[in-house]
Amino acid sequence: MTAAFAAQDVSKRYGRTVALDGVSLHVDAGELVGLLGPNGAGKSTLVKIGCGLVRPSAGAATVCGAPAGSPAARASLGYLAELFRFPGWMTADELLRVHQGLTRSAGGAAERGRLLELVGLADVANRQIESMSKGMQQRLGIAQALVAGPRMLVLDEPTSALDPAGRRTVRDMLEELRAGGTAVLLNSHLLSEIELVCDRVVIINRGRVVAQGTPDELTSAGGVEIETGSGTRRYQIARERIPGVVAELVAAGERVYEVRAARSTLEEAYLEAVEGEMG
Ligand SMILES: Nc1ncnc2c1ncn2[C@@H]1O[C@H](COP(=O)(O)OP(=O)(O)O)[C@@H](O)[C@H]1O
Ligand SMILES: [Mg+2]
Repeated sequence: MTAAFAAQDVSKRYGRTVALDGVSLHVDAGELVGLLGPNGAGKSTLVKIGCGLVRPSAGAATVCGAPAGSPAARASLGYLAELFRFPGWMTADELLRVHQGLTRSAGGAAERGRLLELVGLADVANRQIESMSKGMQQRLGIAQALVAGPRMLVLDEPTSALDPAGRRTVRDMLEELRAGGTAVLLNSHLLSEIELVCDRVVIINRGRVVAQGTPDELTSAGGVEIETGSGTRRYQIARERIPGVVAELVAAGERVYEVRAARSTLEEAYLEAVEGEMG
């Protein structure tokens, strides 16, 4: 199966700044991947390379098998830039109409209505953008990225201006898109509940991938907690050693009531991956 997005050993230098240092990453069809990392980690640079807006110093990126920036790649891709700005005098509906023109979408009013509905802006379709809150503009930006039904959707910091209700809307929308087979790469320097719906999370820091896995994998490195008659203790041991430790406790006269995975939160896993690098 061709990946919806793939980067192989991508590096990017801006003069003496190394923004990316050999990053490889893939997003499969219908997969929702979160690209997490602190400010300056290289996230925006990576997605701009994927969009063909920045040329890598080394390595290559493809979108649905086509080289990044090629007409075929651009036709498969929807993109919301981190620092987008739409003309304030346009209405939401007009903005989508302009983007239908740019992408040669034949979806017409039905597509515009469906997309505004999807991002929770159906009732403000004829409102001017300058009168919308930043959060509404961000949701409109996501609708704009979805014009013409891209197979690969790239959202750079799409939740930075969203209030909890807006995040909920975006999370529901992402789940709907995934169910429909759209692949999503979502950049974020802040963890929120949105990242928790990602199938996979890739953490980058200083231009390198420092951790990746499903949220479950990233949070299960916490060992186990064993509850006995004399209290609960945490053991940093591999799964294979659990029966042995329980047997030892029982042999020592302990009564074992419960053994459970001691999960860290995704935030702890993120901080550990990023700070481990800095230390
Ligand atoms: N156009 C540019 N010219 C020079 N340096 C840049 C440019 N774009 C990004 N950088 C630098 O590259 C690094 C990565 O930036 P960026 O990809 O924007 O990170 P992130 O999106 O993770 O915050 C930073 O050190 C940033 O200052
Ligand atoms: Mg960025």
